[in-house]
Amino acid sequence: MKKFIPPPQSGHGMRVIICEDYAQLSKTAAQIIARQVRSKPTTVLGLATGSTPLGTYRELIRMHREEGLDFSRVTTFNLDEYLGLPPDHPQSYHKFMWDNLFSKINIDPQRVHIPNGLAEDLDAECRNYEEAIRQAGGIDLQLLGLGRDGHIGFNEPSSSLGSRTRIKTLTEETVRDNARFFEREEEVPRFAITMGVGTIMEARKILLLAAGQSKAQAVKATIEGPVTAEFTASVLQLHPRVAIVIDEDASSLLKRRSYYKYVEEKARELGQEPN
Ligand code: F6R
Repeated sequence: MKKFIPPPQSGHGMRVIICEDYAQLSKTAAQIIARQVRSKPTTVLGLATGSTPLGTYRELIRMHREEGLDFSRVTTFNLDEYLGLPPDHPQSYHKFMWDNLFSKINIDPQRVHIPNGLAEDLDAECRNYEEAIRQAGGIDLQLLGLGRDGHIGFNEPSSSLGSRTRIKTLTEETVRDNARFFEREEEVPRFAITMGVGTIMEARKILLLAAGQSKAQAVKATIEGPVTAEFTASVLQLHPRVAIVIDEDASSLLKRRSYYKYVEEKARELGQEPN
């Protein structure tokens, strides 16, 4: 029987890429984003805040400075923002993005979108955000972190898997997790404005990052658990083109860990780029 070798670049689906450590994870993620931006300079990127993408952003800044990676025509939409924090508040996601990425690359500020957590009419803010994504032609590549309770964006457990941009009440666990960035836990906002699960799922490509032992359980539930609103990241199993880039620690509870590594090895032999 003739051996079947799939043609390079033929198929997509879920790629699970296990990296040696956080540095390699950051490089891999940045390369995926850079490839996207180079192949389509007008790319629409969905971006995330939090600790996990920090290394990726540092690497993108380096690529901009040393390799001329050009963001001048890129449009961005951030996943979420706390309610009630002004853009210049040290813990606002506006400030996070400008400090850690935007002020260090050649992005056009007119093309940056982050939900306004101070909007007077929050319903209108949510509707307008969805409309702006649509007007931009939809998100080409959405970067995601992973909450320990399975949230993507701030879509906490029991979020509708079809949800759109809206206000969410954060779980106690998320408030505690995020307290590390604030002086006191009481200061952590209890509400956020977030893209919905349905909004995220419409991105053409998705790149989810997770690092460290504390994410191992969540990574397992995302990749190998049932698809359930109880764990919103699990819906990514239904996305046609998702890369999950994790480090060894975050991969430690995966049942099919060695299979994923084997598949990646083969994909590379066939020249299939991740995402
Ligand atoms: C951030 C976001 C959140 C984080 C998640 C993981 O914009 O939407 O879903 O990605 O809470 O955060 P870290 O990376 O800090 O563990």
